[in-house]
Amino acid sequence: MSHASSYPMASNATGESQVPILELEHVTKRFGGLPAVEGLSFAMRRGEVLGMIGPNGAGKSTAISLIGGALAPTEGVVRFQGRPITRLSPHQRAQLGIARTFQVTQPFTQLDIRDNVIVGALFGGHVRSRKEAAQRADAVLERVGLAGKAHLKGDELTVADRKRLEMARALATHPEVLLLDEVMAGLTPREVGNAVELIREINQSGVTVLIVEHVMQAITGVSDRILVLHHGRKIAEDAPDAVLSDPKVVEAYLGERYARQRAAEQSRRALEGHENATQPSAPDDIAKDSQI
Ligand SMILES: Nc1ncnc2c1ncn2[C@@H]1O[C@H](COP(=O)(O)OP(=O)(O)OP(=O)(O)O)[C@@H](O)[C@H]1O
Ligand SMILES: [Mg+2]
Repeated sequence: MSHASSYPMASNATGESQVPILELEHVTKRFGGLPAVEGLSFAMRRGEVLGMIGPNGAGKSTAISLIGGALAPTEGVVRFQGRPITRLSPHQRAQLGIARTFQVTQPFTQLDIRDNVIVGALFGGHVRSRKEAAQRADAVLERVGLAGKAHLKGDELTVADRKRLEMARALATHPEVLLLDEVMAGLTPREVGNAVELIREINQSGVTVLIVEHVMQAITGVSDRILVLHHGRKIAEDAPDAVLSDPKVVEAYLGERYARQRAAEQSRRALEGHENATQPSAPDDIAKDSQI
């Protein structure tokens, strides 16, 4: 994970301003007049992990679709490396280096896992032949832990394996920006741990990651910053600790129970003279409470 920064327009070593790898400016998406995403602006620095959280229906998947190109915004601009991509198709965006997973996994059920991932590699357009696509697929399957199941059909997979396949298909496109929509939903705590580790590795290999997740332990463990959506609007965007203790976020998403637990934990730490008495932490049961 790269170092936390609350501002993606950081300067590099030479003091030069860096263009955000991804930027949304006043993006709105309405369905039949009702806004799913409203006036959303944020930017991502190359190499960071940005977590996106919020209640069900907050607009998280819609935001991912607006970046990946499955949806066109009603208003606003999406930029990749400073260039507007708002009118590009998902295929064109994949070729630029933007890949996404789907919350509801969508494998080609008649193809085996390996062929599903080969399709991903060809979609990304960074391979020159089917042979190269197959080599890329095999490397990615190894990386996500699906190499031993490459011959299984898309509809023969467990939930965890379907999530891995989603990751594999996205990774096979050779992304610079990876958009992950609830790749940990339905996983056991151990599987979540493995998925977090994999996402860290992917990020360390240079991929910028936007991750939508309800599993709080996972999102706080992997994100440099967290953005919170509520009713389609951004209500917070900051370092994880600051977001977790933001009263607006607690009220909209984390809930009173978490607030009470945190207060109790803080007073206990204060009584014990713990030097980190004011530092927030995500208690274990948040993951259970907030996982869908
Ligand atoms: N294709 C669509 N047509 C009409 N309304 C839609 C469509 N897609 C999403 N919506 C609506 O937009 C709002 C945001 O939905 P979205 O799926 O983006 O939420 P989310 O934050 O991903 O929720 P969850 O945590 O449950 O996945 C919801 O009110 C949803 O019903
Ligand atoms: Mg969603």
